[in-house]
Amino acid sequence: MAAKKIAVVIGSLRKDSLNRKFAHEVIALAPPSLAFEIVEIGELALYNQDLEENGATAPQAWTHFRQRIKDVDGVLFFTPEYNRSVPSPLKNAIDVGSRPYGSSVWSGKPAAIISMSPGATGGSAPTTICASRWCSSTCRCCSSRKPISAAPPTCSDRTAS
Ligand SMILES: Cc1cc2nc3c(=O)[nH]c(=O)nc-3n(C[C@H](O)[C@H](O)[C@H](O)COP(=O)(O)O)c2cc1C
Repeated sequence: MAAKKIAVVIGSLRKDSLNRKFAHEVIALAPPSLAFEIVEIGELALYNQDLEENGATAPQAWTHFRQRIKDVDGVLFFTPEYNRSVPSPLKNAIDVGSRPYGSSVWSGKPAAIISMSPGATGGSAPTTICASRWCSSTCRCCSSRKPISAAPPTCSDRTAS
């Protein structure tokens, strides 16, 4: 049976991001039935309807991102908490994927959120906010609504090839 394709979306753009390192650890542990691919969000222009409505052609990065999410069987988000919410690049990616109206690439897509932060309660806000307000209303999302780890494990410097 063909491996299920899972997009990995990382909320932090930081080079040494703990969430990115943890994503690579999870990818390395994946069984052959899952094929993970990191879908980058750092180059997505800030969402602005003017860029794709009234005759405008959507930025190529948006089109490419939407197609990559459409093409996968599920999405796994790794994100830190920023000011009790999700980092703006992740929110922007969610917005880009949700438009044009009626064509959201998230609709019905199985998804899960892993959030890691050095703070003792870090990660609880994004998982809660995303799971309860956004993700469960659009994706088929599972979340424990708790940070997966209040004390981040030591991650190697593994990087994707
Ligand atoms: C703008 C900003 C806001 C932050 N807000 C929070 C927060 O609300 N709660 C928290 O636990 N940590 C917060 N942090 C700390 C991050 O969780 C921490 O820097 C984390 O390592 C970022 O994830 P990363 O390592 O994947 O980049 C914030 C960091 C930044 C840069």
